[in-house]
Amino acid sequence: MSKKSVQIIAVVFLFSLAYGIFRYHVFEGVPLKDFALFVFNKVVSLAGFILLAINFALGPARKIGVDVPDDWLDSRKEIGTVAFVMILAHVFFAVLLFGSGAYYGKFFATDGSLSMVGSWSMLLGVLAFIWLWLYNISFKTRQEGDAAFLALITSFGSLRLAGLLAAGHLLIMGFKGWLTPGQWAGGMPPITMVAIAAYLICLFFNLKGRRP
Ligand code: HEM
Repeated sequence: MSKKSVQIIAVVFLFSLAYGIFRYHVFEGVPLKDFALFVFNKVVSLAGFILLAINFALGPARKIGVDVPDDWLDSRKEIGTVAFVMILAHVFFAVLLFGSGAYYGKFFATDGSLSMVGSWSMLLGVLAFIWLWLYNISFKTRQEGDAAFLALITSFGSLRLAGLLAAGHLLIMGFKGWLTPGQWAGGMPPITMVAIAAYLICLFFNLKGRRP
């Protein structure tokens, strides 16, 4: 892996780790026993999401004149693979936590079935994950696969769709909490909001630099 990829991944991961620890353990008082899965899940999902958003913006940003160095552009494949692995870990963690029933009250109705927020946000998360997974394997099967299908999956429109699905996953689950800043632990915005802010900044570059 190149030095630049390691640096970019390390900065994003350490930022996400610090954010998760401060917001949830220091300010919200989540017990330390919950670091390993509950808070770490938030850390890897945020880091993976930001890395994907960065990947989505680097090429287009260079096209509109932002000084993006070559080693950043060359890091995109490695960053994308690591981000995908982080999101894969997020999916495993989230499914385990979901099964416990103790962590995600807002995703359940009083009778124990999924709430509207729970079912829609998970639907978009699963679709986003499947799309990212197809995108990831499309690069590896480029030689043998159905050319039209691979071209569709790896197109910019398709990446934008994956971004939209993932953003929808977060918007639906987090939006209510964004409106009550008085209740944010330590005044720190929810992780869903931080992730969407990163997505919107990167989407701006993507739309400007990649007009179809
Ligand atoms: C099978 C697919 C997925 C499932 C089951 C799933 C499940 C979840 C769950 C249960 C949460 C709430 C975590 C919490 O509040 O502690 C969550 C949050 C999150 N998810 Fe997913 N997700 C999936 C796919 C994705 C994908 C594809 C992405 C990004 C590309 C993503 C990014 C995030 C982020 C950034 C959060 C916010 C973390 C937080 O605020 O706690 N997820 N997801």
